[in-house]
Order: sequence, then structure tokens, then C-alpha cells
Amino acid sequence: MPGSTFSPHSPQTQVAASLFAGILILAAAIFILVACLVCYSLVRYRARAGAGEPRQPFGSPTLETVWTAIPLILVTGIFIVTVRAMALIDAPSQPGRPPDLVVTGHQWWWQARYPNGAVTAGEIHIPVGKRLLAQIQSADVIHDFWVPQLARKMDAVPGRSGYIWLEADAPGTYNGVCSEFCGTQHAWMHFIVVAEPEAAFSVWVNHQAEPVAASSTESAPAGAALFQQKKCGDCHAISGTPARGASGPDLTHVASRRFLGSGISPNTVQNLALWSASPQSIKPGNRMPDQPLSEAERTAVAAYLETLR
Ligand code: CUA
Repeated sequence: MPGSTFSPHSPQTQVAASLFAGILILAAAIFILVACLVCYSLVRYRARAGAGEPRQPFGSPTLETVWTAIPLILVTGIFIVTVRAMALIDAPSQPGRPPDLVVTGHQWWWQARYPNGAVTAGEIHIPVGKRLLAQIQSADVIHDFWVPQLARKMDAVPGRSGYIWLEADAPGTYNGVCSEFCGTQHAWMHFIVVAEPEAAFSVWVNHQAEPVAASSTESAPAGAALFQQKKCGDCHAISGTPARGASGPDLTHVASRRFLGSGISPNTVQNLALWSASPQSIKPGNRMPDQPLSEAERTAVAAYLETLR
């Protein structure tokens, strides 16, 4: 489940949360004041036996000025603080610089690509306390990128790019979801944003950009061979091998990720074996067809994938 917008962890979401709280308090105060005045009037001016018809005043310039001026002042105040908040929250829609990461929505997973060539799926890392410009786009239908604690929502629209600031003020793992219905597995289009100190982030992003070590193939030769034979590489890329497919998640460092299938299963060697043979049993309707792999074959493929750290 995504974290709540009520526990914001970035300057942008803090501004939005305080704006919401401020307007809520103001609206509640007005409601209470009006409710009290109504109750008071009901009692004070109720019909009494033998009182006759009350006085019928018509028009009051003073009252009309007051009840026009007060709302006008309140609405103007709300307008000013809202515009200020929007300026702080929104990234420019045509930023004059390259993005710090490009996020692409797919049915039903998220890809993140960094300027150094690192590509990951379902797991985005960011350095703490640094405002990153994230470009949000889609490979197929409309998705919506949302990490409630860190940033505003941004639609991922085919053929266009949206931009948001992505920032966290404290280290931690923040949950994100797709917030626009996009087909069968919309509900399982989760991802995590891992905010870590700058040094740890650099280590991570540099490691993710490296092709797989030759030792992976050497330590799990049967699985590595099967991966190529069974044409897994038509959909998945493993940098440093002939696998270059781009329609499925990049698997270069798949074993370093915490989850598989956009959060539907923890990343264990058993689940890797299950995913390689019967993805439809785990996430029905997902774009990966079931594969005719024997028990020994799926174990071998999983053992190979497990080396891709
Ligand atoms: Cu992607 Cu909903």
C-alpha cells in the first residue's frame, strides 16, 4: 500500500499537506461559526405565543458589504497560497535541461532509466535531500505515476512527457502505485522508491549500469544457455549478453531487486523459478506467456537469474 499523503517526506508534498490542513482548518472554523449562529438564531428568534408578525427589514448595505468582503478576502488568500504552493510543487512542463531519470509506464510495470545507462524495473533509487527531475512517459496506455509521500501525481501519456520533482527528505523506502486504471493488472503496478545517502546511491546507480559479470554465466551455465535457447532475450535485456529485448523488464541486475512482478511476489529463487515458467499463475493477464519449462529447466533458469545481482 502506498504511504499516506498525510505523512509527507519531501518539500513538495509538505507544501501540499500544509495547504490542505490550512484550508481544512479554515473551512471547519467557518462551518462551526455558521452552525453556531444558525442554532442561536433558531432559539433566540423562535415564534412565541402572541408575539404577532416580526419586523420585516429590507436590504442592509453594511451587511451586504461585510458578507461580500469577508469571502472575497478568504478566497483571495487561498488563491495566493495555492499559486505559491503550485509553483513549489510543479516541475516545469518544458524543462530546459535533461531529466535525472526517465520513468516509463508499461502494462503492468514501471521502468526507470538513469543518464549513466542504468535501467531498472519496479525499484527506483534516489539520493536523499536532492531534487531530481523525473520525466514520466508511457510505452502503451495511460498510466499515472504516484508516490504519495514524495511527489504529486503525474500521468504517463503515450507520445508525451510529463515532468515532476522527485525528492525525499529522509532515507527510507517509499511505496508508489499506478493511479490510473490501465487494464487487467492495474492493481499490481506497484513500485518502490528507495531514498539513500548520496554515496550509497552512487554505488547503486554505477553498479546497475554495469553489464553482467562473466562469472554469472560460468556459475550457472545451464540456466544461461536456456535463457538464450528459449528466446527469453526477445523480450528481456541482460546487458553484456545477446539478450536485448525491450518489451519486458530489463533483467541485468534482477536479483538485486526486492520484488518481482511489480510487487506481487518477493524476489526469491523459488519465485524466480515460478515466474520463468508460469507467470500467468502469479499475475494473470500479464504480458509474459507461460513457458514450457521442465522442473529442472526452471530451476536452472532461476539459478542463473539469481546470479544477476
Ligand atoms: Cu498503470 Cu494503472
